[in-house]
Amino acid sequence: MSDSDTVLLRHPTAADGYALNQLVAANPPLDPNSIYCNLLQCSHFADTAIAAFKGEQMVGFASGYVLPKEPNVLFVWQIVVDPAARGLGLAKKLVKAQLASDACERVTHMHTTITPDNEASWGVFKSLARDLQAELNSDVYFEKEQHFGGVHDDEHRLVIGPFKR
Ligand SMILES: CC(C)(COP(=O)(O)OP(=O)(O)OC[C@H]1O[C@@H](n2cnc3c(N)ncnc32)[C@H](O)[C@@H]1OP(=O)(O)O)[C@@H](O)C(=O)NCCC(=O)NCCS
Repeated sequence: MSDSDTVLLRHPTAADGYALNQLVAANPPLDPNSIYCNLLQCSHFADTAIAAFKGEQMVGFASGYVLPKEPNVLFVWQIVVDPAARGLGLAKKLVKAQLASDACERVTHMHTTITPDNEASWGVFKSLARDLQAELNSDVYFEKEQHFGGVHDDEHRLVIGPFKR
């Protein structure tokens, strides 16, 4: 493996916000974000986010935060992996690095929301639950008509835990 193949993981800074915005925009079905939203993910929420780089290029990112009223829950907001870096376990590495962060010291559960048809996303979280030897439960969290005005599919919440990080 040459140096250019090595993927480095680190917490982001605000300087990564624009690259993240472009990576998310290029990778449907993720909801595209405003640049401002990505800047907040890379600054206010940097301690619970992980970015992956090959050389200078951002090739992956997992954003998230600890729920303000439940300090034992990491909410995984979005995961994105560049198509050229998929199938190598990078999405799982990103989430495991989130969990290993100092800011997740008290975390025993992970939540996320995904649409029923996002097979890749279900695959990632089922695999994570297996690795963490934790239960995975789901319920409908944001509903198409009630919360999205009919323009976006239901978002199901996945709850994984308890686990030891
Ligand atoms: C979803 C995504 C992040 C996966 O990235 P990745 O680095 O290829 O995922 P990993 O290699 O870590 O795979 C982890 C698990 O998910 C499964 N998986 C990955 N892509 C899958 C797919 N398209 N369909 C079904 N399962 C899939 C893998 O088989 C693996 O499971 P295993 O450990 O049982 O073999 C990537 O495809 C992506 O960025 N998609 C577009 C954005 C998106 O939908 N994001 C939501 C992600 S939560």
